[in-house]
Amino acid sequence: MGAHITYQSPLDCPAWGKLAELQKKYASGFSTQASKRADVSFGFKSSVFDACGYRFDFSRNLASDEILEALYELADQMQVEDLQKKMFAGERINLSENRPVLHTALRRSPQGTSAFADSCAQIAQAERERMYEFVRDVHTGKATSVTNKPFKHIINIGIGGSDLGPAMAYQALESYADFGIDCHYVSNVDPYDLYSVLSKIDIEQTLVVIVSKTFTTLETMANARLLLAIMQDYYIDKGILEAGEDSLKEIISQQVIAVSSVKEKAIDFGIFPDRIFEMWDWVGGRYSVDSCVGISLALTLGCERFEEFIEGFRAMDTYFDETPARDNAIYLMALLNLWYVNFVGCQTHAILPYSQALEKLPAFLQQLTMESNGKSTLRDGSKRVQTKTGEIFWGSCGTNAQHAYFQLLHQGTELAPADFIAYRHTSVPECEDLKVQELIEKSHRLLLANFMAQTSALEQGRSSEDLEVEDCIKLARTFDGGRPTTTIMGDKLDPRSLGSLIAFYEHVTFVQGALWGINSFDQWGVELGKVMANDLAPALSQKEFVEGVTDARTKDLLEYYWKH
Ligand code: F6P
Repeated sequence: MGAHITYQSPLDCPAWGKLAELQKKYASGFSTQASKRADVSFGFKSSVFDACGYRFDFSRNLASDEILEALYELADQMQVEDLQKKMFAGERINLSENRPVLHTALRRSPQGTSAFADSCAQIAQAERERMYEFVRDVHTGKATSVTNKPFKHIINIGIGGSDLGPAMAYQALESYADFGIDCHYVSNVDPYDLYSVLSKIDIEQTLVVIVSKTFTTLETMANARLLLAIMQDYYIDKGILEAGEDSLKEIISQQVIAVSSVKEKAIDFGIFPDRIFEMWDWVGGRYSVDSCVGISLALTLGCERFEEFIEGFRAMDTYFDETPARDNAIYLMALLNLWYVNFVGCQTHAILPYSQALEKLPAFLQQLTMESNGKSTLRDGSKRVQTKTGEIFWGSCGTNAQHAYFQLLHQGTELAPADFIAYRHTSVPECEDLKVQELIEKSHRLLLANFMAQTSALEQGRSSEDLEVEDCIKLARTFDGGRPTTTIMGDKLDPRSLGSLIAFYEHVTFVQGALWGINSFDQWGVELGKVMANDLAPALSQKEFVEGVTDARTKDLLEYYWKH
């Protein structure tokens, strides 16, 4: 399959040329106008896969067997499986940061993949045990607040990968949080984010979790300082603690823990060493929800459920590792995504969970996919890419989305592939009142009816020929169909199934990056804005500093700010 030749860019692969030919052959089929859709081959032989308790149904995608064959050839020529092995073995595939990429070691037991990967798996397991010990201390009342009260609330302070994963998973699994502890996630440096949480908690029963891989992130540090000042004021005002440095120390020792890969920085901040849980530079923030970064989940759901969450990831890793590319749902989704971006001209990809509990999944996947594959240089940094990469991910929950933007999906001129995700069973806990229970189940069936109807409608469309309406409105009532979707259906949203779903998208993101020849594991693109915000901060607190600002448009805005 040409695997002995190393291609850095997919554009150099013979399969790319084939795909370009196929694009021409089928081009009319991708038009959003039905009359031109005649020769599109909708569906291909192997389009339905069962893995880790999910059904992945790709049959409503715009591809044919010959397109798929060329896509698989591209995966062979780009040696994606080889890179996959290197990733699992802990080779330094994140070249721009010279780091291994081993989020899989967070959940895999040491299994001889490589000595390094095994040692990372052991370290991760040991740290998880340390975390569980602390969680048990909280649950048994051994760890308490300044006033010796048990913890009932958590405020998780973090941003990006230190927030989105845990916040998404907490919301998804809240019905399993039966330890009497709730969690609030504060990420935005807009103080309103923290302010809006304060009315929902009792400071004397709140554990603060500061999550930051680098422990330097501006937003997280600002929020942590603000919250600590508020807590200090509270305890001093109540006469519980005396004003001064010692009160802060007391609060931190009792009510603050941290997760970071730079322990010294957390210690400098004042966190006690035995209250710091580690992550490592071989785990990217957006791939870290199953490390101690997810401690808020272990605290609210319990250690057993957190283990189930981990098992879900592990199951999907094993599936990814052991299933040949041509039988693998992960590969198929990544290949189809590339096909849509590079040959069909799609710029976006919708994530549509038919599950209110997964409301935050689209935002989580935005970081996972867009921070990973929003790149424009090849993996080794030698050249700019010459193909499009990283599509824009977006979406929200069905059925609400149907009444907002589905109009464009059905009849707009833009083609947006969409993942429809749902579960056979509701996330609502069983209710003792049989009548209410029956109504809950009925609502869930209605949700599923919509879930199924939409993918069918998007594919099938509807002609208006037989409608008894005036000719002038017939066209407006025509649905062209031919809109691509993938259906992902699980049995029930629980810790295990959520873990598998996250790992599925992690690996899809990796395969897409490998196909494009880019590095999915760095994020230099966020640096510039961060540096500039730090540089500008003084000009917002002291007017004299405005003079030194060199960007004329920003200076103008600052002058407006000061004037008003
Ligand atoms: O700004 C982006 C980013 O660097 C993400 O990659 C990361 O998840 C987030 O900031 C938070 O970083 P940290 O965990 O170091 O605070």
